[in-house]
Amino acid sequence: MEFDELLFSRKSVRSFQDKEIPQKVLNNMMEAARLSPSFQNKQCWRFVVVKDKNIIKDLALRSGMISKVNFFIKDAPVVIIACADPVKSGTINNQNYYLVDTAIAFQQMMMSAWNHGIGSCWLAAFNEQKVREILKIPENIRVVALSPFGYPKEKKTIYDKAVKVFAGSKKRLDLDKIVMWEKWVE
Ligand SMILES: Cc1cc2nc3c(=O)[nH]c(=O)nc-3n(C[C@H](O)[C@H](O)[C@H](O)COP(=O)(O)O)c2cc1C
Repeated sequence: MEFDELLFSRKSVRSFQDKEIPQKVLNNMMEAARLSPSFQNKQCWRFVVVKDKNIIKDLALRSGMISKVNFFIKDAPVVIIACADPVKSGTINNQNYYLVDTAIAFQQMMMSAWNHGIGSCWLAAFNEQKVREILKIPENIRVVALSPFGYPKEKKTIYDKAVKVFAGSKKRLDLDKIVMWEKWVE
């Protein structure tokens, strides 16, 4: 895909075809994350790639922050959990860069996936302790985000439409609301 087309067509995907992602494509996605920039090149990120349907079902049923808010991940052939070891990053101006490092790497992974026709959806509404418990992630490692990955279903499900009401939107602020040239403008 041409780079602008890749960037401008990206969207969150919440319904998936029952179709496996080839290992070669998964490896390419991991490589896209691996080459990301990070705080002092410390590479604090760690990724847990889940293909086992039973574990995905468990995550779908129990990982949600509230009830079964992440239930739609149940149909994804792959769920990836983006984790970080905060000690392997740093803090400047009171800002913890493990979040930034891991967000950049996970987004690179997501864009690489999109380039292969694979959709994803950044999920923050998870219960960190439950995710830890299901995947045996140690206490010193933070769970930053998780996302389903899979080929998008053409036809949107009822669940997909419902989620869109509170989470999904193509609306964006106009450029003149978010970009200031030369200095801050009130
Ligand atoms: C930090 C972050 C957290 C998000 N958390 C959730 C979430 O918990 N559940 C969900 O369905 N979508 C979640 N999203 C997806 C957003 O709702 C989505 O990106 C936004 O509505 C814009 O839609 P688009 O990605 O299709 O352009 C999250 C996105 C980001 C960047």
